This record gives sequence, C-alpha cells and structure tokens, in this order.
Amino acid sequence: MKQFVRISQLALCWVVLLATRVAGDELEGAVGNTPADTQAAAAAAPTSEKTAAVALELELSNFKMEALMLVIVAGLVANYFYGSRKNAELANIWEKPIATVLQANFSAVGDGRQVLERDSAADLLFYASGRRHCKYAQGHLMLTARQDPIALLNDLTANNHEKLEVEVTLNDSLPGFVFAAVPRKRSKAVNRDRYDVSTFAKIATHDNVPAGIVLFSESADITSQLLDSGLDKMLAGEGGLLEEIYVTDSPAEKPEKHDFKREKRLLATIRLPASTTAGIQSFREALEFVFYMVDYIAEGINLRPETTKKLGKARDEAFKEFARMAEQEKQEALAKILADKRRAELDEVDKMSPEQRRKWEEKDRKKQLKKEQGKRTRRVK
Ligand SMILES: *[C@@H]1O[C@H](CO)[C@@H](O)[C@H](O)[C@H]1NC(C)=O
Ligand SMILES: *[C@@H]1O[C@H](CO)[C@@H](O)[C@H](O)[C@H]1NC(C)=O
Repeated sequence: MKQFVRISQLALCWVVLLATRVAGDELEGAVGNTPADTQAAAAAAPTSEKTAAVALELELSNFKMEALMLVIVAGLVANYFYGSRKNAELANIWEKPIATVLQANFSAVGDGRQVLERDSAADLLFYASGRRHCKYAQGHLMLTARQDPIALLNDLTANNHEKLEVEVTLNDSLPGFVFAAVPRKRSKAVNRDRYDVSTFAKIATHDNVPAGIVLFSESADITSQLLDSGLDKMLAGEGGLLEEIYVTDSPAEKPEKHDFKREKRLLATIRLPASTTAGIQSFREALEFVFYMVDYIAEGINLRPETTKKLGKARDEAFKEFARMAEQEKQEALAKILADKRRAELDEVDKMSPEQRRKWEEKDRKKQLKKEQGKRTRRVK
C-alpha cells in the first residue's frame, strides 16, 4: 500500500512537472508569435484550411503528449521496482557486517529479529543499546535513491554517496569536550553550522592529520590523545573509510531554552566502499573502530588538570546567557506565586464585612510597612 502511494506521488509529480513545462512552452509560443507573424500567416493561407491544419496539429500533439506521459509513468513504475529491489539487495549485503559488530558490542540490537529497519527504499535505520560507556547507538544507512529519479538527480548533482551515519550517545561519566575531524571541503560549513564546533573548538594542527582533513579541537592535549587511538589512520584520505567524526558534549544547534539536553555524543560517518569482500571487511573495521573509540574516550584519555579547567571555563562562559535565562525564569515564577497569593487574599477580603475589612486593611498596611523597612535596611547593609 505504502509503495503504491509512493508511486502515485511520483507519477503525479512528473505529470505536474510536465504540465507546467507544456503550459510554459505554449505561453512562450503565444508570446513568440508577433502580430506581424500572424498577419503574414493569415495572408498566406485561406482561413478555413488553416484552422483545420491547426486543429489536426493540436490533436496530434495532444496524442503525442499523452503517449509520452504513459511511457514516462510506466518507466517510473518500472524504475521504482527495479531501484527498490536493487537497494534491498544492497541493504542485505551491508546488514551482515553491521549486525556482526553490533551484536558483538551491544546486548540489545534492533527489535531482536531484524537489525536494519527500512525507513524508505534508500534509508535504513538501526538502534542498539546495552554496552559499557554508552547509553545507546543509532545508525542511518543512506543508499542512493535508485527508486526515485528526482532524488537520484539530486544525489548526483550534490555529489552524495552511500554512507552509514552512526550516533552513539555516551555515558554522562565520560569526559566532555568538542572535537571534530571533517573533510576540508566541508570544514567551512561545519564551522558555520554547528554550534558546538563554532563555540568551543578551533582549527587544530597535528603532524598526523591526513591531507584533506581538517581538525577542530579545544586543546592540543585532546587532539594528540584522540589521534593516538589510531584515528589518524582510519580517516578518509589515508585510504580509510571514516569521513567525519565528532566527539561532543554540546548540541549541534544553538539551544533556545536554558534547560537544553546536554548529552555527550560520538558521531561518525563511514563511506560505503564497493561491496567486495575486501570492501566489506574494511567497512566492518571502520564500524568496529567507532565503538572502540567509545572505550578509548572512556578509558584511554587522561586530560591534564589545566585542560579540564579550561573546558569548564569555556562552558561557563558560553552558557552564561542560559544561566541568566534560568535565573530570570525562576524570579518570574516566584513573582507569579506571590501575585497569585495576593490576589486570593484580596478575593477573601471582598467577602468580608466592613468591620472585618477595616481590621484587615490596618493589618495589611503594617505588614507592607514592615516589608518596606526590611528592604531598606537590607539595602543599607
Ligand atoms: C565490539 O565488537 C568487536 C567485534 O566486532 C569486538 O572485537 C569487540 O571486543 C567488541 N567490543 C565490546 C566492548 O564488546
Ligand atoms: C555511567 O554513568 C554513571 C553516572 O552518570 C555511572 O554511575 C556509571 O557507572 C557509568 N557506567 C559505565 C558503564 O560507565
């Protein structure tokens, strides 16, 4: 059923696309026909013959249009089935190494039966939990949209390629910092778009950084310790499949509220190689390495005290405005409680007899006076 809906959507898209194209052409034709042209044509041919010829031409072109559309829709349907089947075959191939690594590392993988869950013909997801040093891991296998010509065109023009994105949510007890290794051509966009990278990290240099990779780090201490894990050799550019990796303790987008989630995460993008035995083997090693990194961050990294201090200070500074927002919110909540209380009190007073009310007003006046005095003395101190 879902497939049918998708096909219909696609076909509809194309029909609309074609219709606008045809309408555009006709409009252009109408504009292109200058009065002089029309007059010349009218003079050349007797009117009745001309109308008949135009009508025939119109009919013919209508028929051609319809035939063309039919062919296109049939082509789309065939392509959808062919593309979907091809992707399902590929998903089966890549599911094996993914399942092997996940099952060796996590106690709960997928729903217990299936590792990759199909989100679309080109997108497959996984979820795993139950591993030391992390809360859970999520993955997104992104295949080429072979089933969808429009998305395929987009993939081709954007130079997208097939990849696996992995996001591991780390245990809170792990050290928190921001580090990123990204392809040079993406580095500007990353530094512009990612709040965590642009706020905390700077471009870092290291002897072992492969050409074509840009590092962002908060301190040289972190950079060298992370690269010592063997990360330098796994990064793309050195023949590795790891395209991008982020270790972060802050959100990728600037939070709008002060009570944002502060989770530590490891994100990695692994390029899919050709599905040969050797390709699958290096893909598996890259995925294994991602989970090895989790252990490495938890157990292999020993930040110097001054690094830890620097990290803390940078966060205090960056989150100052959020701390202010939190304080303001607290004050507002308090003020609201007091105002509500006062309103309830006044409601009670409204129900009193004149005598009672007079007494209450007298008492209230004294209370307010005392409060004012209290404030003044506090201010004097
Ligand atoms: C993760 O999986 C690999 C095999 O794919 C295994 O060698 C490694 O020990 C596993 N790690 C953990 C923590 O289970
Ligand atoms: C995970 O973090 C909690 C504290 O947030 C800690 O008590 C627990 O020992 C950690 N578990 C592992 C496996 O690191």
